[in-house]
Amino acid sequence: MARSFARTAGQILEDRAGNEHNGSNGGSNGEDANAVTVLRDVTLRIMPGEFAALQGTSGSGKSTLLHILGLLDRASRGTYALLGKDVSHLSDDALSTLRSRHIGFVFQSFYLIPYATALDNVLMPGLYTKVSHRQLVQRARELLTMVGLADRMHHKPSQLSGGQQQRVALARALMNRPSLVLADEPTGQLDSRTTREILDLLRTINEQGATVILVTHDPNVAAYARRRLHMEDGRIVRDEQAGTAAAG
Ligand SMILES: Nc1ncnc2c1ncn2[C@@H]1O[C@H](COP(=O)(O)OP(=O)(O)O)[C@@H](O)[C@H]1O
Ligand SMILES: [Mg+2]
Repeated sequence: MARSFARTAGQILEDRAGNEHNGSNGGSNGEDANAVTVLRDVTLRIMPGEFAALQGTSGSGKSTLLHILGLLDRASRGTYALLGKDVSHLSDDALSTLRSRHIGFVFQSFYLIPYATALDNVLMPGLYTKVSHRQLVQRARELLTMVGLADRMHHKPSQLSGGQQQRVALARALMNRPSLVLADEPTGQLDSRTTREILDLLRTINEQGATVILVTHDPNVAAYARRRLHMEDGRIVRDEQAGTAAAG
């Protein structure tokens, strides 16, 4: 099923129609007394090849929205189409298949496996595909070279700086050639020089064809994206394209 998804023209993803997301875990019914409405009236269309930032203060709903876009979480109302197909009613298994084939994630805290080398961390997402081990190793080497870590392939995370660890995580996110890369505060633990390096890499990844969505509370970081979606209180209050603001 998934291969044809990638070929579907039109919007890559869309999250629309009065989408309310209840933050309570696992509550299947929206009337849960403990439910917190996190997202409100989010209507959003992101086209293939975009580089967009979800920007806003802490608690504005950025991560919640990113988790829905990344199929890590479901909206309690509304619909979501990924690569042109409504995914709102897919099973958890179908969602995880779609996720591993099409989406790469990068998080603030890297989430590398501590006892595995950089090379093994990067090739890990490929283990669930039919690609041969030899080809996985070759791809992981190419990706680590692309992110500037050709000489660190056999280092473990504890032997790498924060910036280097995040580059490993970026390479890992690209392992299965995702069409969509989602990054949640990827520079939140990094100094300003390393932050620029990671953002430059995200830009390169975007220029090579992936759609990139970057979550950040930092306007200087968001300025790297061509499109900036400002979130406040679970709503998208401004949708700004580069060129319409000074920071472009
Ligand atoms: N599982 C949850 N249960 C209850 N409230 C949650 C849950 N996850 C997030 N929230 C609430 O939703 C709001 C948005 O959170 P989040 O999406 O993490 O914001 P951001 O990433 O912009 O900081 C916050 O007020 C947060 O407290
Ligand atoms: Mg967050």
